[in-house]
Amino acid sequence: LFPPRKAEMKSPIVVVSNRLPFILCKDDDGELQRKPCAGGLVTAVAPVVIQCGGLWVGWPGIHMDDPHQSVPESDPGDKGPSAGLKSEQVVVVHVEEQIFDDYYNGCCNATFWPLFHSMPDRAVFVADMWEAYSTVNAMFAYKTVEALKKLKAQEEEGEERIPLVWIHDYHLMLAANHIRQQCEEENLKCNLGFFLHIPFPPWDIFRLFPWDDDVLQGILGCDMVGFHIEDYCRNFLDCCQRRLGFRVDRVHNLVDVAGRTVKVRALPIGIPYKRFEEMANAAPRALQSSQQIILGVDRLDYTKGLVNRIRSFERLLEKHPEHLEVVKLMQVAVPSRTDVKEYQQLKEQIDLEVGRINGRFSTANWSPIRYIFGCISQDELAAYYRDSSVALVTPLRDGMNLVAKEYVACQVDKPGVLILSLFAGAGETMHEALLVNPYELDGVADTLHRALTMPDDEREMRMYHLKKRERTMDVDFWLSSFLKAMGSLDFGEEQDEPM
Ligand code: G6P
Repeated sequence: LFPPRKAEMKSPIVVVSNRLPFILCKDDDGELQRKPCAGGLVTAVAPVVIQCGGLWVGWPGIHMDDPHQSVPESDPGDKGPSAGLKSEQVVVVHVEEQIFDDYYNGCCNATFWPLFHSMPDRAVFVADMWEAYSTVNAMFAYKTVEALKKLKAQEEEGEERIPLVWIHDYHLMLAANHIRQQCEEENLKCNLGFFLHIPFPPWDIFRLFPWDDDVLQGILGCDMVGFHIEDYCRNFLDCCQRRLGFRVDRVHNLVDVAGRTVKVRALPIGIPYKRFEEMANAAPRALQSSQQIILGVDRLDYTKGLVNRIRSFERLLEKHPEHLEVVKLMQVAVPSRTDVKEYQQLKEQIDLEVGRINGRFSTANWSPIRYIFGCISQDELAAYYRDSSVALVTPLRDGMNLVAKEYVACQVDKPGVLILSLFAGAGETMHEALLVNPYELDGVADTLHRALTMPDDEREMRMYHLKKRERTMDVDFWLSSFLKAMGSLDFGEEQDEPM
């Protein structure tokens, strides 16, 4: 088990991510207040930032009228993981609305998101969007360097602490190089790490992006780059070699950048397993149904394969009519990126498909699909997971997919069956799931039938192994692995852990 001994951060950490660990919103009196985010990343990383006196650089979720206005402290009732983050530990990056739109809705979500998920036909390549992306990355870098100066100023006489700057995700792929250059100019020291939370595509897809070399150079500004799985590491190394002509050590996953070595590591993220297990144990029943529930939970995103999923369920009802009036597909779709055209069109398409299938099969007492377009609370979610017979997690492409892991953590009663896409990073390790190709609708329908009729002992055996792995390789394990690989953990008197 990791960590084997209690380890602490050697020096402060500066997290740099598009979103802060909370969003700012205005209350009824027009006063700013924090609305906490409950994601796994925040749960794991915020306590470390708080404990080591670090900083968090990010966008606050709204455009503030006065960019100099300070961030409010957290609400006294806030018991979330970022509640202890003092306002002086928060560095807000303000971006003018039009530039932010071209950066976030444009380059991030209409270019990199589809491209990195190997869906180039959905990607747009627009110079203005790329320019906005570069500008915003430079702004984040500037704010980060300011933050590093602030930390330096707090150092005690004779003390030298080299902060860890940890940059997250596809929004900020150029930031590291800017930070490195500015730090050299300012004579500031830091270690730079980057983690990509989405897939890194194969070279032949990546090179469709007209400014691909800038992206690679930007990421290579880091000392270490983390991806979820080995495949993404391999794709990145291919790009460094084939596009930039850099020397790559494929045995140790290293890139030689003009004499400097960049480490590339596969570090699969996990979930706050115990928190989900506890919620599942405590939550009241949410599904008052004698029917077997097949559950889907996703952000409403075309990478999640929702249309294929719904059609696969339709194939199940056609091929295996014994499930009519007995089984129900419950699909929760959380609204996401609603300003982007592709997402608006997808919403309409799903509405039509659900209506068509419900119209085709519904009887007086039963309709096959229950579709929720909206947010549900974490407790409700845990209860849905717990009470569903099958989780249908069939993205067309997904960096990792945490829903699969959350479902497993919540199997505290009679265990259900996890059906998982071959094209989710989670499929690399969750071997006991029933793995499917989401493009093959008949295959998914047959696997659904198998899951719904699976004997208890097989369900139990599969779930036992899935739970065991996710309990161990949870989000804290991931965090420790990243920090350890960066050399940022202090193991006390004993020598540093060998890598
Ligand atoms: C993915 C990305 C995250 C992002 C999340 C929600 O999981 O990897 O970086 O925060 O989607 O998307 P949004 O655009 O709402 O931040």
